[in-house]
Amino acid sequence: MLLSVLLWAASVLDWKSQGVHARPATTTAARRDDAKIDWGSVRCPVENSLETLPTPTYPSEKGMFLVCTELIINATPQEIYHALFDFRAYPTWSSFVRDIALPPEVVRTPEDVRVGLVTRFTTTGIVPLLNTTSVEIVTVMKGAFGDDDVGEKNTSTSPPYLMATWRYDDELHGTASRSEHPSILVDRGDGTTLYTSYETYFTGPGTLLLLPFKQTLQKQYTQQGLDLKAYVEKAK
Ligand SMILES: *[C@@H]1O[C@H](CO)[C@@H](O)[C@H](O)[C@H]1NC(C)=O
Ligand SMILES: *[C@@H]1O[C@H](CO)[C@@H](O)[C@H](O)[C@H]1NC(C)=O
Repeated sequence: MLLSVLLWAASVLDWKSQGVHARPATTTAARRDDAKIDWGSVRCPVENSLETLPTPTYPSEKGMFLVCTELIINATPQEIYHALFDFRAYPTWSSFVRDIALPPEVVRTPEDVRVGLVTRFTTTGIVPLLNTTSVEIVTVMKGAFGDDDVGEKNTSTSPPYLMATWRYDDELHGTASRSEHPSILVDRGDGTTLYTSYETYFTGPGTLLLLPFKQTLQKQYTQQGLDLKAYVEKAK
């Protein structure tokens, strides 16, 4: 409780100081240059840590809180990547994401999914008895189709990985809340994949409202990983 108060105070101060400088929203491409990150080596911090993780759109910004899940899936990175971008199929396997609304030009998923695609997710279980909706924009598709630009280091020694990312859009130019959700799929070389999936929530008044739901969000992300594992392993 005390911790929440401290975090809240810290974030309000931080938010105000950002307001003074009134930094314009930098483009993703520009931001990617300042922080080259080896995404294939990103892992969840230890449980209950206050550490957060960088994301592709906001690589050098300090997160306010993080939810993160990591597990080994008995499928290839390509098979999991396919499932992550098969937005139409989510209601058939996910107990968290109940629906993903897509613009009319997106007929087939994952084939018609592109970086910049604007979707509306309907999720359940965050607030009891209510569905929550959020606009999510695809930001990284490092995989079998689409854009390969993830601003990564030249790490020819790291194991190969694929990456699927979307960011939350508050429809207020990020002034209320910014968060982004990367899923990183590291090839373990034996037909299995290390799935690391997280969402970093950045400082903002909207993020403060979400803070009390952190444990619930963590529970839902953990369950989402288990649902995904069950789904792709069953499809094999
Ligand atoms: C939540 O969304 C799902 C899928 O769109 C729908 O079937 C369900 O009735 C909704 N529940 C509530 C409480 O609105
Ligand atoms: C990465 O480094 C290797 C070894 O130095 C080099 O051969 C390769 O061209 C580099 N790749 C890129 C994309 O810069």
